[in-house]
Amino acid sequence: MVNQAISIQDQHHRPLRDIRISVTDRCNFRCSYCMPADIFGPDFPFLQRKELLTFEEISRLVKCFAEIGVKKVRLTGGEPLLRKDLHILIKQLSLIDGIEDIALTTNGIYLPKYAKELKQAGLQRVNISLDAIEDEIFKDMNGRSVGVSPVLKGIAAAKKEGLIVKVNMVVKKGLNDSQIIPMAKYFKKEEIPIRYIEFMDVGSTNGWNYDQVVTKKQIFHQLEEHFELEPVEQRYFGEVATCYRHKGTDTEVGFITSVSESFCSSCTRARISADGKMYNCLFASKGHDFKKILRANASSETIIEEIKKVWGARHDRYSDERTEHSAKMREKIEMSYIGG
Ligand code: GTP
Ligand code: 5AD
Ligand code: SF4
Ligand code: SF4
Repeated sequence: MVNQAISIQDQHHRPLRDIRISVTDRCNFRCSYCMPADIFGPDFPFLQRKELLTFEEISRLVKCFAEIGVKKVRLTGGEPLLRKDLHILIKQLSLIDGIEDIALTTNGIYLPKYAKELKQAGLQRVNISLDAIEDEIFKDMNGRSVGVSPVLKGIAAAKKEGLIVKVNMVVKKGLNDSQIIPMAKYFKKEEIPIRYIEFMDVGSTNGWNYDQVVTKKQIFHQLEEHFELEPVEQRYFGEVATCYRHKGTDTEVGFITSVSESFCSSCTRARISADGKMYNCLFASKGHDFKKILRANASSETIIEEIKKVWGARHDRYSDERTEHSAKMREKIEMSYIGG
């Protein structure tokens, strides 16, 4: 039985409400802002199978998180649909008392194959990454020369199965900022919400530079010339995106502004890497090893105490404190490892 009274808070009084779980550090794409192909080449030391948490271990951990107030689970990667039989994990998660929202972040390529079984297993929402609507630009960005069409097919498959779909577009200056308006037009017509994501300094391999960031303000200026947008109230404490709506419609446009307008003060998210480490921030450099604890047959009480200890000590607010220096010099985990 979930004890609703229990809610743990970190050093800045932020409750723990959601977890993002990476199920693999591998991906079929090589987006330059995430897994640049020259670094994530054939010799890159990806995690081995035995290093990954099993579905049973993930479910056991999520059960413990749910006991202390976590309601929302998002599965990420790398590309999470590269993990075999992911629907089995989703089914297990959907049976956990207290978990109300199960979502997935994916590049969409495998959705035509898996959307049906994922929905049947209990998946509710998918956020699909698509950085351009023009083939040549998208091919360049994903590093694998994959055109837009397979992703659009993935979006269609997810919609057909009744999954709630949002599109994520990371905007990088000089690469795909020409796509801001074409993407908005396309997805307005499709009645699918799009979120523009500021290029972030995650990890240490993507060559991040402030000059390559297109801020929310700059994107919004462009959008205003073509569309009438009105603000949408925040739906819940800790919502990542700032949202607007095309006037007279239900279709939304969101912004994820980690660089220009940080949102750490309401950050309720913990992250679990594919090898079972808990991280208190996307930009952390050290995690807490729960695989070791799980594999030592620890009791649920012990695991819960350990989660409370890690979250209770949390003071992370990286985006609030970001400087050009910290962005470049600090050792940080990679996006593909922690899942965004
Ligand atoms: P929703 O539940 O649909 O709002 O999901 P989401 O937007 O939190 O998840 P998604 O995986 O689609 O992430 C979109 C972008 O937001 C990615 O670039 C993430 O890295 C980024 N993001 C999510 N949570 C955080 C966070 O706590 N801090 C920062 N800096 N970025 C985040
Ligand atoms: N900056 C911003 N967003 C990123 N993503 C991956 N790398 C970065 C980055 N450096 C996005 C992906 C996906 C989500 C999980 O994170 O495009 O939509
Ligand atoms: Fe893969 Fe997503 Fe990273 Fe692109 S952003 S390389 S699709 S994990
Ligand atoms: Fe949360 Fe860290 Fe992102 Fe701030 S930078 S919102 S603390 S994950």
